[in-house]
Amino acid sequence: MNKFSRTIVITGGAGFIGSHVVRLFVNKYPDYRIINLDLLTYAGNLANLSDVEHKENYEFVKMDICDYDNVLRLFESQHVDGIIHLAAESHVDRSIKDPFLFARTNVMGTLSLLQAAKTAWLNTPEGFEGKRFYHISTDEVYGALEIGGGLFTETTPYSPHSPYSASKASSDHFVRAFHDTYGMPTIVTNCSNNYGPYQFPEKLIPLFINNIRHRRQLPVYGKGENVRDWLYVEDHARAIDLIFHKGKTADSYNIGGFNEWRNIDIVRLLVATVDRLLGRKEGEDLDLITFVTDRQGHDLRYAIDSTKLKSELGWEPSLQFEEGIEKTVRWYLENEQWLNSVTSGDYEQYYARMYGDKKC
Ligand code: NAD
Ligand code: TYD
Repeated sequence: MNKFSRTIVITGGAGFIGSHVVRLFVNKYPDYRIINLDLLTYAGNLANLSDVEHKENYEFVKMDICDYDNVLRLFESQHVDGIIHLAAESHVDRSIKDPFLFARTNVMGTLSLLQAAKTAWLNTPEGFEGKRFYHISTDEVYGALEIGGGLFTETTPYSPHSPYSASKASSDHFVRAFHDTYGMPTIVTNCSNNYGPYQFPEKLIPLFINNIRHRRQLPVYGKGENVRDWLYVEDHARAIDLIFHKGKTADSYNIGGFNEWRNIDIVRLLVATVDRLLGRKEGEDLDLITFVTDRQGHDLRYAIDSTKLKSELGWEPSLQFEEGIEKTVRWYLENEQWLNSVTSGDYEQYYARMYGDKKC
């Protein structure tokens, strides 16, 4: 007899946010079997999960979400009843260089998971009963806001500008279409920018912490006046847990920190924090700031209104930004080996040897 009460597949569990979600679920729900389905692209790293990899209720499967046949086989053979879908190409700058890859992974990959889940679930006597497909998306699908203007709510029309946000918007539409067409129990959340441990150092915060540490230039796009709304990654993972269990089927929720910062102000805060923690004269590395050519189509401002999540499910962010940044900078400085390994690409070669290079 299966000793687990549920089997949940978390896609992209070896990535930044996914690894925090896997850790939370594996530790909090010993009666759930958690399968981490991840292709281990450059952004996926099993070292992010070394503290839970030996737990009895955790399994890793190396698989491409676009590989429909194998995904279907997995869902059917393992009697999967919940899917929390985070696997994606996630970096805007990469999407500008290679939009096809973003359409493949984010659109076709999501469609492949939806179709496999639908087929597997409708082949069981209980059908969709007790099942849930939870799709993790971004605030970037809503487009860009003016400085000092309003916030994105769940009813803001989609208006994506980058190939990344266009691919995420498309995947959100497919998820909703599977509910509206087939009655599949889906749910979508759109979250603001996350920060915290295990984020690949191509995104602003970990990239700049690493650069300040090595006294490398800090390439601020444009004038640094773009605004993002930042949320500590563990607060996002807590929201995902709550919404997976208590969120309304077919609904969507915005997740954000009510925490808007201009890029240039974050960069100054990072310089001050890294300098202080490394015992350097505070602010001595401010001259590393270099204004460079702006990102193409750079969205001016994102800001999330997460009132619905608070009023319906009682979720609130737990950390003030300054506190979260202090924790985050300390983590990167104390985990130099992790930073060195992901920037050198050593782990990619290691896992290729261990699991093979097969792209399913
Ligand atoms: P990430 O880039 O750190 O991780 C993505 C993971 O997906 C990696 O482990 C990678 O190996 C895996 N993956 C990529 N292609 C795959 C494929 N074809 N098959 C299987 N696995 C594949 O991303 P993240 O920052 O952790 O973001 C996770 C999700 O949250 C994404 O869907 C992203 O759009 C969304 N999101 C991110 C943020 C943010 O600030 N990082 C904010 C809101 C929403
Ligand atoms: P990023 O972390 O790439 O997240 P997103 O584009 O999804 O918001 O970038 C955050 C902000 O920082 C964004 O306005 C672009 C800016 N940025 C820089 O100015 N320089 C950089 O080197 C990077 C990576 C980002």
